[in-house]
Amino acid sequence: MQNPIIVALDVPSAEQALSLAREVAPFVGAFKVGKELFVSAGPEFVRQLRATGASVFLDLKFHDIPNTVAKAVAAATRLDVQMLTIHAGGGSEMMRAAEKSAQDTARNLGRPAPLVLGVTVLTSMDSSALEELGGETDVAAHVERLARLAATSGLRGLVCSPLELTALRGFLPTTMQLVTPGIRTGNEKADDQKRTLSPREAIAAGASWLVVGRPIYAAPNPAEAARAILGSLA
Ligand code: C5P
Repeated sequence: MQNPIIVALDVPSAEQALSLAREVAPFVGAFKVGKELFVSAGPEFVRQLRATGASVFLDLKFHDIPNTVAKAVAAATRLDVQMLTIHAGGGSEMMRAAEKSAQDTARNLGRPAPLVLGVTVLTSMDSSALEELGGETDVAAHVERLARLAATSGLRGLVCSPLELTALRGFLPTTMQLVTPGIRTGNEKADDQKRTLSPREAIAAGASWLVVGRPIYAAPNPAEAARAILGSLA
């Protein structure tokens, strides 16, 4: 089995991120670079991270007109990231353009296409936030609608909350990869994650990948924390 642990590099500087990445690399499968780190440290940081041999998940959640998203996805593919995110709410044409761009760019470079992941409803949105936007107000129903649209638009993966896993696995093609944050081991302090599963529970519920931030980077010994999570999955 490939190592499903993705460590979120939610630390303030490129130096800290690289040193954390080197420390935990033996026990994890990939690293997530989010908006803050990318806006401050940029593509050069991603190249440095790739140069360590690590797989990279570029979590910039693109949402724009199809042509613009396709170009951004092509640029991310040239940067040689292994996963990236787009908003499923950008619509089927945008998702198809993103997937095609990933496939075409990778083929021209002679490498595998990155996994383009759809983000459905942000977990910060509840039904009253959806109501403000008009349309569907049931969060689970909207997640399902966007997940189905992502699948029919050709996406091969989705980001979802731990508590959406079972429902999504009930109707999605089995090949769909599900990437899940909100992972807690029970050893860490309470924080802002309200709906969590343990690594083992999330995999049992159908997660393909686990995004883990604070339980690893805020642990007294991040390498030991990563090793323990990996061990809990054996
Ligand atoms: O520290 P923690 O394990 O909560 O980090 C989880 C990571 O996953 C963070 O980078 C966070 O932004 C991201 N994320 C999340 N919940 C979502 C989507 C992304 O926690 N619904």
